[in-house]
Amino acid sequence: MPMQPWFPAAKLGIFIHYGVYAVGGAAESWSFYTGEMTHEQYMKQLDGFSASHYDPDAWAELFARVGARYAVLTTRHHDGVALWDTGHRNLDVVRDTPAGRDLVTGFVDALRARDLKVGLYYSHSDWNHPDYASERHPGPYVVPLNAYSQAEPGQEDPAAWARYLAYRDGQVRELVERFRPDILWFDGEWERTEEQWRTDELADVILADNPDTVFNGRMPGHGDYATPEQGAPLQAPDGPWELCLTINDSWSHRPQDRAFKSVRQLVRYFTETIGMGGNLLLAAAPREDGTIPEEQIARMEGLGAWIGRHSDAVYGTVAGLPAGHHYGPSTLSADRRTLYLVCFDAPRDSVSVRGLRNRVRRVTVLGTGTELGHHVTGGLDTVPGVMWIDAPAAADLDEEATVLAVELEGELDLYTGAGRL
Ligand code: GLC
Repeated sequence: MPMQPWFPAAKLGIFIHYGVYAVGGAAESWSFYTGEMTHEQYMKQLDGFSASHYDPDAWAELFARVGARYAVLTTRHHDGVALWDTGHRNLDVVRDTPAGRDLVTGFVDALRARDLKVGLYYSHSDWNHPDYASERHPGPYVVPLNAYSQAEPGQEDPAAWARYLAYRDGQVRELVERFRPDILWFDGEWERTEEQWRTDELADVILADNPDTVFNGRMPGHGDYATPEQGAPLQAPDGPWELCLTINDSWSHRPQDRAFKSVRQLVRYFTETIGMGGNLLLAAAPREDGTIPEEQIARMEGLGAWIGRHSDAVYGTVAGLPAGHHYGPSTLSADRRTLYLVCFDAPRDSVSVRGLRNRVRRVTVLGTGTELGHHVTGGLDTVPGVMWIDAPAAADLDEEATVLAVELEGELDLYTGAGRL
């Protein structure tokens, strides 16, 4: 399926891990898998999940304000607890927690009211489902990985596996029919093969009903884009892609995790990602009551404020220069006539660009509009010289990262060879 054009244009999305795991502040689903807590302790969290201050309009307002164009919500993580009123029941917040209501509808409506695209996360695996056997990772686990099934993955009784797939398909169908998601963000696929997951059939069912659904890469055989996680790629993955990244080190609400990335670091991640043509899916983790901790809001707002000051370098751009032409990321306007150079540090005398064949019409500091001098040294025949841009004055420097807009004559034309021998 051709990629929906809104996706590579979006640049920033917000990833919300919201679930019963926020009650005890332990890792989402994994905490009973790795033995961080017992299965019993994990399940006790259901009794404390209130969603008492859940305000999806406030979330959507925040996401839109910080410049995100989409958001993804964990509708059902590996722990099997669905956030909506599902007819294909294992566990859900409507019947099994004091929250007592569907939490997905409000999220979807709030996003759409602000023109944000809707992403729904869904885990193929469910470590709490009686018909699902889990892989055993080496290590001192406190409980069996799956509290019910002792079979090895893929070795379940075929009837149990058929029931499991009917459950998964039923839930996914509900998500599609009720919420018409723009993205179905799958996860948890690694414990089975593409054939076992029967993703061909699942994709057909989804696309027959909702043909514009975008699938992330964790829909085996049907991913529309690559999903690198946490580690920033040094080479752009092939095709559209999205880096998913936590603000601290956790996907879910873990108050003891204070390893917050700074706004400056987030600006780096973001510009390095969009400079290679990707989107950043930045994770925020609400408390069990639905409120997002201040430290996370402040960082999202910091990134959003930077984006607001530099929106021309963000929206409507494509990947910029390959590595080596400029020491920092860059983006390129859609008409390929303006380059946006990101400078993290205060340039000393100048900022140089190598391999640029175009003549330069004008260079300005994005945001302040100050024009900067520039000239070229060297070059011979087909090998262009080096273009030197005068360093901006202190007053023109941005707190997090300064952007120089280089207006080119014609469309970007780069030299990438070995020099004239
Ligand atoms: C991993 C984890 C999961 C998290 C996800 C986010 O696959 O299993 O806990 O939700 O990454 O990308």
